[in-house]
Amino acid sequence: MTNIEPHGGRLVSLYEPSLSIEGLRKKIPIDATAVSDLELIATGAYSPLTGFLTSKDYHSVVNDIRLADGTVWSLPITLPVGDGSLYSVGDTVLLEYEGDIYGTLTITDIFEPDQEVEAEKVYKTRDRKHPGVAKLLERGSVYLGGPIKLIKRIEQRNFVEFYFDPAETRQAFEANGWKKIVGFQTRNPVHRAHEYIQKTALEIVDALLLNPLVGETKSDDIPADVRMESYQVLLRDYYPEDRVKLAVFPAAMRYAGPREAIFHALVRKNYGCTHFIVGRDHAGVGDYYGTYEAQEIFSNFTAEEIGITLLFFEHSFYCTACGNMATAKTCPHSSEHHVILSGTKVREMLKNGVLPPAEFSRKEVVDVLIKGLKQKELAK
Ligand code: ADX
Repeated sequence: MTNIEPHGGRLVSLYEPSLSIEGLRKKIPIDATAVSDLELIATGAYSPLTGFLTSKDYHSVVNDIRLADGTVWSLPITLPVGDGSLYSVGDTVLLEYEGDIYGTLTITDIFEPDQEVEAEKVYKTRDRKHPGVAKLLERGSVYLGGPIKLIKRIEQRNFVEFYFDPAETRQAFEANGWKKIVGFQTRNPVHRAHEYIQKTALEIVDALLLNPLVGETKSDDIPADVRMESYQVLLRDYYPEDRVKLAVFPAAMRYAGPREAIFHALVRKNYGCTHFIVGRDHAGVGDYYGTYEAQEIFSNFTAEEIGITLLFFEHSFYCTACGNMATAKTCPHSSEHHVILSGTKVREMLKNGVLPPAEFSRKEVVDVLIKGLKQKELAK
């Protein structure tokens, strides 16, 4: 085991494939986000959570960014249902996703949250155009809280070899002799700015965990399977093999900016990372968050409370006058020398088969993205 402690001190482990579910009748149909949360709780990625939040923990997380016992936790991991009257406290129910039973929940709490307040506190907006808020409001309005057990793993069909539980990444880090590992979250292809901050971080640690999120994302984000291929090509051609591990993070994207940055950091600690990168507008969407808000939020907590070292990076770009990647901290030239493209602009270029400049993205990466997106388009 790497020497970094999981959040809360212990790696949670709640996968019990041989658990007897005989006699349990009540089934709750759950959605893709809930089944992925269920699995991530059970594998310890969400340590110290052992279930879906009860009302006490929920209110504490929403209002104070802490569980009721004071442990820092930033996103309410909840199990919403449409009709709470179908269930009773004390019931153990089966959690069903697309016809299969994945686990059990012992209901200790049934409560009706104020989702407008949740939206305001967690997403900093009540705007339904925010994808996280839209999702929050489209899920049920009653929450069931209580401990879970996972009895079936989610079967993966794509890029199976990149799925690792926290215990496995920890073991891999140990086996490689890596003591300092920096985690990198992304829901995008890795462009030059990402590469720059990863490699800058890599100069002061032993290894990089490239940990792309592959759970649900909004429909205009680049699909995970296309991205996965692009990561492999980039790593093959531009990164030393013995310094990087590619592993997926199978959670849903919330687009909660600052709150999600805390969540992303704590989860990567559970995977065994000692360092975590937070750059510009981490987990942001549209103009809902300030460029560095996802960094600033960490100043509300002590280093011990977070327990993973944060590496903050400024907005990075290629400077044609410097002839290299830079930030305002390292480049004296004015913005006309800086190659900066918005995510929307790049997606548009890729969709139309237009190559973004090499200063923005590696050609090998762009080729994979254009080809992958074209295939998706044809398959529609
Ligand atoms: S997200 O998961 O945080 O939404 P994204 O792929 O946009 O994904 O960013 C991954 C990480 O790189 C985040 O920490 C983000 O802040 C950082 N980042 C993205 N683009 C830049 C940039 N141009 N300069 C500095 N940091 C960046």
